[in-house]
Amino acid sequence: MTCCSIAKIVDNEQIRNGCYTMKLEVPSIAGGCTPGQFVLLRGLVAGWPYLRRPFSIYSSDGETKVDIVYKVVGRATSIMSGMDAGEEFDVVGPLGNGFTPDETCTHAVAVAGGIGIPPLAFFCQKYVDLYEHTTLVLGAATREELLVPVGLVVQGVKMATYTEDGSKGCRGTALDGLAGVIGETALEKDAVQVIACGPREMLSEVAHLCRERGVACQVSVEEIMACGIGACLSCAVPASAGGYLHACKDGPVFDSSEIDWERWLET
Ligand SMILES: Cc1cc2nc3c(=O)[nH]c(=O)nc-3n(C[C@H](O)[C@H](O)[C@H](O)COP(=O)(O)OP(=O)(O)OC[C@H]3O[C@@H](n4cnc5c(N)ncnc54)[C@H](O)[C@@H]3O)c2cc1C
Ligand code: FES
Repeated sequence: MTCCSIAKIVDNEQIRNGCYTMKLEVPSIAGGCTPGQFVLLRGLVAGWPYLRRPFSIYSSDGETKVDIVYKVVGRATSIMSGMDAGEEFDVVGPLGNGFTPDETCTHAVAVAGGIGIPPLAFFCQKYVDLYEHTTLVLGAATREELLVPVGLVVQGVKMATYTEDGSKGCRGTALDGLAGVIGETALEKDAVQVIACGPREMLSEVAHLCRERGVACQVSVEEIMACGIGACLSCAVPASAGGYLHACKDGPVFDSSEIDWERWLET
């Protein structure tokens, strides 16, 4: 159930320059969240911008605590980076629809670009036992751009890292990594489920590749949000059925066939 409550910082640790993991004590959310859902945070500190800010849930202990992973890009995230244990947020969540695991598939391939890793890492942690093979493909332009949380080694999950300049892992993009996995000749297309989160252009390419190969694909879109409850239309995503979907209310996770990618890329 979605609710508004207070989240207290337990820990706020820098992973590397500009990227942090934050552990929050918030039992009303920790007890009932699923991978792909997000929270809206407003720091109870001076200078916070007018609106709450959305962050995917990276992990939950299922009882009292949730973790997020964030990158400093502007005012709110900069304020967050300076907050200490004991300081508080007013928080709304868990919001949105999470990923739906498909137990009929033997392979799950999670494809993350940019700041898309947190919800996919949560998916891998929670559902690894459902699949015979789970692969987490991480892509970024350079080693410095990789948002890899400290300790992100999920038992049973194969990690495949791609950087465009080859500074970490294989040279290439997350799409190259995905093509490699779903291109394996022995793999039946019905045996694979792809989930993805990252920039719009990357998601479009992932959706396109999956459609070509006949592989099921769910994407989590990180559109800029204001209200978070379907009232302001700032997170509109063109729907393949016509009209618009709202990332905050109808998503952020969609079956990739629900999105009109051509129209979305034009906006
Ligand atoms: C459902 C959802 C889940 C998210 N999960 C995470 C997460 O797990 N970790 C994380 O680091 N970030 C995540 N984001 C993005 C995060 O909400 C923004 O980075 C944050 O709101 C920026 O706030 P700010 O005040 O620091 O920056 P602002 O001053 O608001 O923005 C700074 C710059 O970032 C751009 N920006 C702001 N929001 C977004 C966005 N959603 N997508 C792309 N660019 C944006 C702005 O256009 C601007 O150029 C998520 C967004 C959504 C919608
Ligand atoms: S953020 Fe307002 S409608 Fe989605």
